[in-house]
Amino acid sequence: MTDHGHDNLTILDHPLIQDKMARLRDESTSHEDFRRLIGQVAGLMTFQASRDLPIVSSTVRTPLEEVEATRLSAPVTLVPILRAGLGMVEGIIALMPEANVGHIGLYRDESTLEPVTYYCKLPAMIAEGPVFLVDPMLATGGSAIAATEVLQTHGCRDIRLICLVAAPEGVRAMAEAHPGVRIFVAALDRELNDVGFIVPGLGDAGDRIFGTR
Ligand code: PRP
Repeated sequence: MTDHGHDNLTILDHPLIQDKMARLRDESTSHEDFRRLIGQVAGLMTFQASRDLPIVSSTVRTPLEEVEATRLSAPVTLVPILRAGLGMVEGIIALMPEANVGHIGLYRDESTLEPVTYYCKLPAMIAEGPVFLVDPMLATGGSAIAATEVLQTHGCRDIRLICLVAAPEGVRAMAEAHPGVRIFVAALDRELNDVGFIVPGLGDAGDRIFGTR
């Protein structure tokens, strides 16, 4: 348990992340800048969330001699939740170009309010290594919970959720549904408002990434 009260949650308070978060939150930030910044924050967050990826010892021959070296021992998969998660992919792939990328598309049924999976394409070897599930927002948690269920159905065990901004309601719901999933955020905000938006938040990330607002 940490002082924010959520034992599965890590808040990444690195100054570089927080500086970019300030600009992402700013309503005057253009969608070009928003898109660039969200990729940068995603990369910085993944750098920290990948601190304990499984590794294996090996040797390599430098131009001078053989030396002990460490390599990743399992394939890493990145899974953005469509649509806004796509905005995080490029910044993460820049760090881990060998990672595979799967996609999960979800929409919320307006009558039942339940998330419905409309697209799912995952790498064949996804269960063999860690999975980074990425989405800028964790609001009610419904999308992340449903996406995690999809991943678990495909045999994934090491699932790490990376979100820029979370509401306490979403963190609690996710922890209850999937206590084994570690959640990494850049900010834990105050609450959800009446229409399910995170406040103070940064607005609708998908609209700000793609210029659709
Ligand atoms: C946003 C966000 C998450 C979801 C979070 O997507 O990117 O996927 O809402 O809300 P939840 O925790 O209550 O499920 P949105 O529905 O706006 O779709 P978009 O990605 O197409 O913009």
